Amino acid sequence: MNKVLIFPVAALFCVGSLFGQSDAERRASRMGVGMNLSYLDNYWKGTKEKHFSDFAKPEEAAKREKMLADIAKAGFKTVRIPICFSAWMEIKQPYDWDNPDALKMPDSFVKWALDSGLNVIIDLHHSEFDRSVADADDPERIVNLWTKIAERYKNTDPERVFFELRNEPNKIPAEQWRWQAEQIIKYVRAIAPKHTLIVGFHEWNGRQQLIESKPFADPNIIYTFHYYDPFVFTHQGATWAGPALKDLRSVPFPYSADDKIKVPDSAKGSYIEQQIGNYKKESDPEKMYADLKAAKDWAIKNKVPVFVGEFGSYDQYSSMEDRCRHATAVYSALGKLGLPNAWWEWDGGFNMFEKGSQTIAPCMRKAIDSFSGR
Ligand code: BGC
Repeated sequence: MNKVLIFPVAALFCVGSLFGQSDAERRASRMGVGMNLSYLDNYWKGTKEKHFSDFAKPEEAAKREKMLADIAKAGFKTVRIPICFSAWMEIKQPYDWDNPDALKMPDSFVKWALDSGLNVIIDLHHSEFDRSVADADDPERIVNLWTKIAERYKNTDPERVFFELRNEPNKIPAEQWRWQAEQIIKYVRAIAPKHTLIVGFHEWNGRQQLIESKPFADPNIIYTFHYYDPFVFTHQGATWAGPALKDLRSVPFPYSADDKIKVPDSAKGSYIEQQIGNYKKESDPEKMYADLKAAKDWAIKNKVPVFVGEFGSYDQYSSMEDRCRHATAVYSALGKLGLPNAWWEWDGGFNMFEKGSQTIAPCMRKAIDSFSGR
């Protein structure tokens, strides 16, 4: 009799400890393929003198309700929402919200995403406005920003809503970012004890930087990095990522001996010229798999989950065929390694749509399916 009563409890305990999954691991395992939905990060659409607080328009934001439903219909499980909360808070103390009405927009995004059945990442994006506003990224200010964000979203479902501390910290030494992240973690934890945090490392959430870093003490964290390799393919023609890319064209994927890549004058002598020199190796899908596996190995070694928060390619100058081959190389590697992820981005310059439509191109569909080995 006793045995009968004890068995289910014991079995449950064993199953739990057999898998030995932490909250972060369990939640990461449900993230699957994800998508970034940009718009609330587009601070540059606002007025600099108002520290961009007017950048987002409710009528534009409203269009995202259908987009979130479409993202879910397309089979994505998770949406990462980049949000420039920084634009809506005072630059100086006492750091009050100075455009509180604007916060209805991220509130709606989170609600719409949840209503569509998606997991949601609330991602603090561009808090430093690319350093065009002095003191915007003062650590005290960022910590204040996070206490406000955590207060606002602390009652959301911790199984489905994640807090990402800061997109692509850059021009900040490793130790300073680590210290800042520890402060944010401490304050957010006191307000939202159950939410899983997503944290990446310095140098633009670099992969190598993740591998060289140690996890934080808090056990409820999913670690993140961005994977835009090979950069000369994914960012050819980009105007926002340094001067050496803007004139770069006709980089195929993968390398082809028949298509010689021309190094534009603006890239001569830069790291981009070097990357073009190494392109045969850089664009080899096996090398890309090895890159991603190194991040997965770090996760296994440290017993923590890892999420690839951004990857994708700029559609301006690459053919869809090349972009799909690249997407397949990344998705199939992520699938084999069991790494949850989010493509950058749904409807901007890195979209997956057939030209001029809102329909995912068939070869992109296949690329996404390669994640599940289909
Ligand atoms: C930035 C975007 C950019 C993308 C690809 C993101 O982290 O916020 O502005 O388009 O990376 O470079």
